[in-house]
Amino acid sequence: MNEREKAVAENTGLRRRTVLGWLSATTVLATTAGVAACQQTPRMYDMQVSRDTGCPCCHVWTELMQATGRFRVAMVDAPDLPAFKKQLGVPAGLGSCHTAVVDTFVVEGHVPAEDILRLLDQRPTGVRGIAVPGMPRGSPGMEQPNGAVDAYEVIAFGADGSQSVFSRYAGSP
Ligand code: CU
Ligand code: CU
Repeated sequence: MNEREKAVAENTGLRRRTVLGWLSATTVLATTAGVAACQQTPRMYDMQVSRDTGCPCCHVWTELMQATGRFRVAMVDAPDLPAFKKQLGVPAGLGSCHTAVVDTFVVEGHVPAEDILRLLDQRPTGVRGIAVPGMPRGSPGMEQPNGAVDAYEVIAFGADGSQSVFSRYAGSP
């Protein structure tokens, strides 16, 4: 190999290393961008909770909602909760101790956060809100010292009064 050939060989080697270096840098950048996309902070929703003054379980449920990190919760004491529920279209018979408004939906009672997030994600046509009627033991905010859990359903209701089962939870044996 003469001097010229040696110089060409070195150059080519250098160029190859540079290209390889550039490629791996690009790969790292692309990977970083991918990870960043996956780690995007999930959307936060405003939630206004209206409750009967002095009801203690509303507070526990509200704290559980806040703990998910997906809701900015404000709690207000409703002077006339039954009238407020009616105004929001909560069907008689599906009522509970507190009524929340999240985004464009109504959430009545001790509804698990995962159901609310699924509702916000799927936004099923015709659904005005979801409810857990009454106050089943073991539902979020209704945990019992003895661990008792009632079987209960989350009911979806429409503005037209239609109702359907949105999800089901099994009780303790
Ligand atoms: Cu309650
Ligand atoms: Cu409550």
